[in-house]
Amino acid sequence: MNYPVWNFPILGGSLVVAIIAIIHVLISHLAIGGGAFLAIAEIWSNKISDGEKVRKWLHKFTTFFLVYTTVFGAITGVGIWFSIQLASPEATSLLIHQFVFAWATEWVTFIGELTVLYLYYYGWNSNSRGMQVFLAVAYFVIAWFSLFIINGILTFMLTPGAWTLDNKEIAWGFFNPGYTPSLLIRTLIMFLLAGLAGIMIATFIKDDDEFKSKMIRFSAKWVIPAAVLVPVLTVWYWLTLPESTLKFYEAGIVGVAGGKMEGITRFFWLAVISGALVVLGTSIAAWKPKTVHFSTAISLLLIAQVGFMGAEFFREMARKPYVIKGVLYSNALWAHKAEDKAYMNEPYLSHAKWAPKVQPMTLEHGEWMFRLQCATCHTLDGYRSLTPRTENWTPSFGVRFLENLHEQGVMPPFQGTLQDRAALTSYFMHLHGNDTSPGAVLDTYEKEEKAKAEAMNASMKEAQK
Ligand code: HEC
Repeated sequence: MNYPVWNFPILGGSLVVAIIAIIHVLISHLAIGGGAFLAIAEIWSNKISDGEKVRKWLHKFTTFFLVYTTVFGAITGVGIWFSIQLASPEATSLLIHQFVFAWATEWVTFIGELTVLYLYYYGWNSNSRGMQVFLAVAYFVIAWFSLFIINGILTFMLTPGAWTLDNKEIAWGFFNPGYTPSLLIRTLIMFLLAGLAGIMIATFIKDDDEFKSKMIRFSAKWVIPAAVLVPVLTVWYWLTLPESTLKFYEAGIVGVAGGKMEGITRFFWLAVISGALVVLGTSIAAWKPKTVHFSTAISLLLIAQVGFMGAEFFREMARKPYVIKGVLYSNALWAHKAEDKAYMNEPYLSHAKWAPKVQPMTLEHGEWMFRLQCATCHTLDGYRSLTPRTENWTPSFGVRFLENLHEQGVMPPFQGTLQDRAALTSYFMHLHGNDTSPGAVLDTYEKEEKAKAEAMNASMKEAQK
């Protein structure tokens, strides 16, 4: 624990990151797919007789596109930076140290993207046709390059592959097993989102049914590559997933109500079902384009966004309990240190540089254990709340539960001494109005353990007789 912790009430820090990141992801994917859409539509408009009409429509599309992607995209992009370094400083530090050059490039491409898009939009009436086509293509290439970069860092966190702390080969970490399928899936989803946005903007064409149909059919084609290839690519991606992820997923199937990580399974199916709905809806729109209303079009776009959100949550949950799979746990415990028994059994707060000096075996001691070890994933009363989850804790149950925390499969091992466990157990019991002190928790636990050992001895003796 080299950094302070950020205890965000009700939501918890990681959910704050997730919310900002999801909004950003939805916008940024449209930002890149929309670039390809602009470029192709520009080229197409030069080849057909009513190209001028298409360009007029394209101007509407670009107005929506520019505000949506640059304003909201930029705010949420910076928001991710801001929130991840508060929620996971240790992981952010590792990622920066590994990928500083990649990240710097990412910022440069972002500035390039904005510059080119503004030149394109504000040069609408003054630039030559050739220049507009060039800017639209350049925008897409630069924007896609930003995906090329960030995809390496994102996939690294789930499948670091041959990269290890002892062999920090950056290229191995960057071009990790999940890299290529993820890059392709994201690119196709980008096209799909751009097509759906195109259908939505086409519903604003009011007095020209023929032209509206033409633009809806043009936009609908952008969904086809994803409809055909994403299922295949998902199989490829699936094969790169760590075994533990597949176990979580299966646990969700076995116990839909009781499975520990059923969330991951539900999110996966949310993505699959939304995808199927989008394909069906778009096919109907392409078949009967005149009947498509704004409300239908925006519903399709929203369903696609919800499905995509499901896929992103699936990917995030797939890493549990790590922030970087197999390397760093979500609560800043390094996996290699977790193997070191002596380290794990030292008083926990002695490792926490930023915790205040608290009196051992007090409620404050327990509270800091919670804040530093549990609060990256749990809140007390909001997201994944621990108050109801510890409702039935008794002294011995609590201490033993913490001892075996990692056996649940979704949590890191507990760090600290028996006193640390007693203090944390007492803290949870206090939340339910039970004022058993940490000392009393420890006493009860030790007495029970002793009684158990004696009973065991007695029965062994009995058996020997
Ligand atoms: C890496 C994230 C993470 C950390 C850190 C973490 N947990 Fe959990 N915890 C989970 C997940 C995921 C679940 C299972 C899903 C659920 O219950 O919502 C869970 C479940 C639980 C449950 C319910 C178990 C059950 O079977 O009913 C308890 C109690 C719990 N955690 C306590 C703790 C305590 C105490 C700490 C700190 C010492 C802690 N957790 C640290 C992620 C975490």
